[in-house]
Amino acid sequence: MKLCMIGTGYVGLVSGVCFADLGNDVICVDKDLSKINSLQKSIIPIYEPGLEELVRKNSKSGRLKFSTDLSTSIQKSDIIFICVGTPTKKNKYEADLSQVYSVANIISKNIKSFKIIINKSTVPVMTGDKLEKIISKKIKKNLFSVVSNPEFLREGEAIRDFIYPDRVLIGTSDKRSNRILKNLYSPLISKGAKYLNTSRRAAELIKYASNAFLATKITFINELANLSEKLDINIEDVSIGIGSDKRIGSRFLRAGPAYGGSCFPKDTRALVYTSKASKTNLSVIETVIKSNNKRSDLLLKRINSILNKKIKNKKITFLGVTFKANTDDMRESSSLKMIPYLNKRGAKIRYYDPTGKKSEFDKFKNVNYKPNIKEACVNSDLIIIHTEWNEFKLIDLKRIVKKRNFIVYDMRNIYSPEKMRKQNIKYFGVGR
Ligand code: UGA
Repeated sequence: MKLCMIGTGYVGLVSGVCFADLGNDVICVDKDLSKINSLQKSIIPIYEPGLEELVRKNSKSGRLKFSTDLSTSIQKSDIIFICVGTPTKKNKYEADLSQVYSVANIISKNIKSFKIIINKSTVPVMTGDKLEKIISKKIKKNLFSVVSNPEFLREGEAIRDFIYPDRVLIGTSDKRSNRILKNLYSPLISKGAKYLNTSRRAAELIKYASNAFLATKITFINELANLSEKLDINIEDVSIGIGSDKRIGSRFLRAGPAYGGSCFPKDTRALVYTSKASKTNLSVIETVIKSNNKRSDLLLKRINSILNKKIKNKKITFLGVTFKANTDDMRESSSLKMIPYLNKRGAKIRYYDPTGKKSEFDKFKNVNYKPNIKEACVNSDLIIIHTEWNEFKLIDLKRIVKKRNFIVYDMRNIYSPEKMRKQNIKYFGVGR
């Protein structure tokens, strides 16, 4: 099939590349010329394991192309995927849909034969209805169909998540589109993915509800971790204990810093906005947002008490600063709150991240990037494991810190407290 992906962000690029790998002809379009020039040379703008190899392979085979020419790309394709950003409006909860609508206008000027227009961007319920309205101002309704097909990719695991999704969700009541899309996704369905056809509005809500539910699970376990700390209970036991109940499920029950990234914070806010606009109450999600916003303050308080309220002049090392492992993404990472706070109180911060230096910290005096774990940790008073990269899991801390009485604050619980105790390392985890 001939596919056009509009927007080469996470969702557009990963989906486009994976669809090409399944044998489709794919054009990935973006208005950013330098990005397209790089992609044409197989230079990837994001850190995503395995993506570069797939781009190279499928570009070489001729199935994957990159372009800035949106009109021609739309005309040449049967299925158009809208994969542009939907950030939160400044200082508001509402999603900014300007990019989605501007793309819809361009699509409406370039339809000459039947096209399926798929919204893969995360959009509020009824955005599909609005898109249909915009396009039908110029085009007869029998020449196009607007479908919702949300994506459930995780950064860092995106290719695996695309190839082995739990479900493929198609929101449409149009039988023809449903048949074509079931065929497009048939290689994934035959590997075990559940195929769900719902109304368009339901599909839009399922995307937000899924992210909000996962954010709730994390917030739930984070709050239980606070209680476990007080009662001398290991939160890991609690996660396993409740997660073993199949009705609950064991995933997304790892306690840690505030959840971050480009999705959970934005999507929970947008869902609350939708509920308010529909005059209903999503008090659970509102509470989750509040609790998560307070989480970094809580962990900072803990740092303060670990250091006996003496933050000034302390050498503090952050291992990992991105919002999670296997990504270079800093969006809404809790390190963006913690490092400036500690810096303001006179701490001397060094950080190491496997994805390199972060410009977000350039403006701070006494916040320095180090190119390896050793240089970041040597002579530190406090080592904070902020992100759960594999390369942090087997560090011989005693050997590299070379200082007596250093402290480890393991915000991801990647070390065994017993082993730390045996090595005489002063160790703190989360919820244990
Ligand atoms: C999330 C969803 O997991 C994807 O299904 C969805 O497609 C994506 O958003 C999106 O809407 O595009 P992502 O933001 O890449 O994916 O990252 P997650 O792996 O979900 O992690 C989000 C945050 O939760 C991170 O800060 C992570 O550290 C935290 N987390 C996750 C925990 O603190 N504990 C856990 O047990 C799991």
